Amino acid sequence: MRKNYRTKNNQCFVVRPVTKKDLPALVDILNSVRAERKFVRSEKIATLEQGIKSFEEFTINDSYIWLVAEIKGKVVGESKIWRGDGKEHHVGYLFLMVASEWRNFGIGEVLLRHVLTQAKNYEKICVIPFSTNLVAIKLLQKYGFVEEARRKKQYKLSNGSYVDEVFMAKWLF
Ligand SMILES: CC(C)(COP(=O)(O)OP(=O)(O)OC[C@H]1O[C@@H](n2cnc3c(N)ncnc32)[C@H](O)[C@@H]1OP(=O)(O)O)[C@@H](O)C(=O)NCCC(=O)NCCS
Repeated sequence: MRKNYRTKNNQCFVVRPVTKKDLPALVDILNSVRAERKFVRSEKIATLEQGIKSFEEFTINDSYIWLVAEIKGKVVGESKIWRGDGKEHHVGYLFLMVASEWRNFGIGEVLLRHVLTQAKNYEKICVIPFSTNLVAIKLLQKYGFVEEARRKKQYKLSNGSYVDEVFMAKWLF
């Protein structure tokens, strides 16, 4: 389902389900997020082959939700929820990212809102931001996510500082 929105500076953007054609752009955005070195654990370069593999895993899963935001034909962000295994079957894991040049325009909020409205067959949605990721934490709190636990100083950044891993969750019923 495609839906049109406007950014805070009045540009049109579309939120729609991902397609295989979006993967090169998504891999590029993921690599730039990793290169910022302050939002996600992995520092490895993601490859298109890995992107295709995860797309194929997602598409055979009965209830994955994977959306992209597109501005003038260019993919600028994604939100996705994938199901936990086994006894975590009622749980969805959330990931959200927006290309750095398109942040603070309201796109991340729309992607979050949109993915949550489609997450009807999950009971609980989990997300694990760094404690220093105040933008993500504030946005998640605005949509009802609360901190459940944290692993202290779980990550050490390239500048030598430590950050906690924050386990946030939202119950959907
Ligand atoms: C987290 C992220 C997806 C947010 O996307 P975004 O498009 O920049 O966010 P939005 O513009 O929709 O802002 C949504 C809310 O976030 C908060 N926010 C946004 N920018 C902010 C800033 N610079 N400072 C403080 N809060 C900010 C505000 O609460 C805002 O709501 P408001 O407009 O009502 O105040 C984006 O920053 C991102 O991709 N970060 C890198 C990847 C990442 O950290 N992913 C999350 C891992 S869990």
